[in-house]
Amino acid sequence: MQTPQSLPLLPKYLREDEVTKECRDLLPSLPSEKGWVAAHLHQYQGFWHTTRQLAGVLSCQKHFQAKDTDILLVTNPKSGTTWLKAISFALVNRARYPDLGQHPLLTNNPHVLVPFLELDFYMNENVFPDLNSLASPRLFSTHLPYVSLPESVKNSNCKLVYLCRNPKDTFVSLWHFTNKLRSVSKATNPIEESFDKFCKGVSLYGPFWDHVLEYWKESLEKQERVLFLKFEEMKEQPISLVKRLADFIGCPFSAEEEAKGAVEAVLRLCSFENLSNLEVNKIGKLPSGEETNAFFRRGEVGDWINHLTSEMAQQLDSVTQQKFNGSGLK
Ligand code: A3P
Repeated sequence: MQTPQSLPLLPKYLREDEVTKECRDLLPSLPSEKGWVAAHLHQYQGFWHTTRQLAGVLSCQKHFQAKDTDILLVTNPKSGTTWLKAISFALVNRARYPDLGQHPLLTNNPHVLVPFLELDFYMNENVFPDLNSLASPRLFSTHLPYVSLPESVKNSNCKLVYLCRNPKDTFVSLWHFTNKLRSVSKATNPIEESFDKFCKGVSLYGPFWDHVLEYWKESLEKQERVLFLKFEEMKEQPISLVKRLADFIGCPFSAEEEAKGAVEAVLRLCSFENLSNLEVNKIGKLPSGEETNAFFRRGEVGDWINHLTSEMAQQLDSVTQQKFNGSGLK
């Protein structure tokens, strides 16, 4: 059992005691479930959040002011956020850091270079960084479902890049990740229990499918505002998708850059092999306490086959079929 004396030893991501009054006041009215990592998950606007996360969501909704020039990277957890952050940071800043041998990605984890709105900037109600002083385009990230985005994001012309991943690999990645985070204080979650919760939608920022569908629909209706990417396609056709991403976020590659191999250079810099072997990503920690190596496991498509029984795979496929039916999304 946690005693007040032992609390300060826990990493921030496991703590539930330091949340805003607004969040504490709201909690009793929300449905709650046992969490995968921290003790609780709470359902807010149809999606499940940890207690700390919820505090950040509320503050972000209240205070974040989007600009038309902003770029917001959006993902379900474990869909390739780290990769998307690295690539987008490298694209937006390539004039600033032409020497790839001295690039900030070699000494900083991508989550430090592209922080999450609700998990980093707006975690503490009283201490917000001055985001107005950041140079344009400002590059942010979020796991927020569309319904919970701050109104200023919905009403601005800022660009949203959404990366989704197939639910079987996303689930397996999430199961490994949450067990790694739990290992500080608790035993591994049995895969059957986590699987059941994931299928019911009770997972970090879940239901997974509702999260994806919201952005899929937005991307169909507002193609100039929302770019919808798939992890598997990024793996299959990285060059064409990185060029599409660069075009979308307003920093297209010139013919000269392409001829010099600049697209391939960004991909090499941001590859799983390169990033996962850097010291900062092997032994570092994020300000919220997660070890940076927790964000790099295998980085492959189809690893679910090594973890799910055929019954589990069928069950997940059938939930996906039901949820995506008629949406045009495969
Ligand atoms: P696996 O657990 O399947 O290996 P997120 O960044 O959203 O937290 O997702 C983490 C997943 O992306 C992990 O998947 C991780 O290994 C993979 N990943 C991290 N960096 C990557 C990269 N540069 N290229 C491809 N996959 C990467």
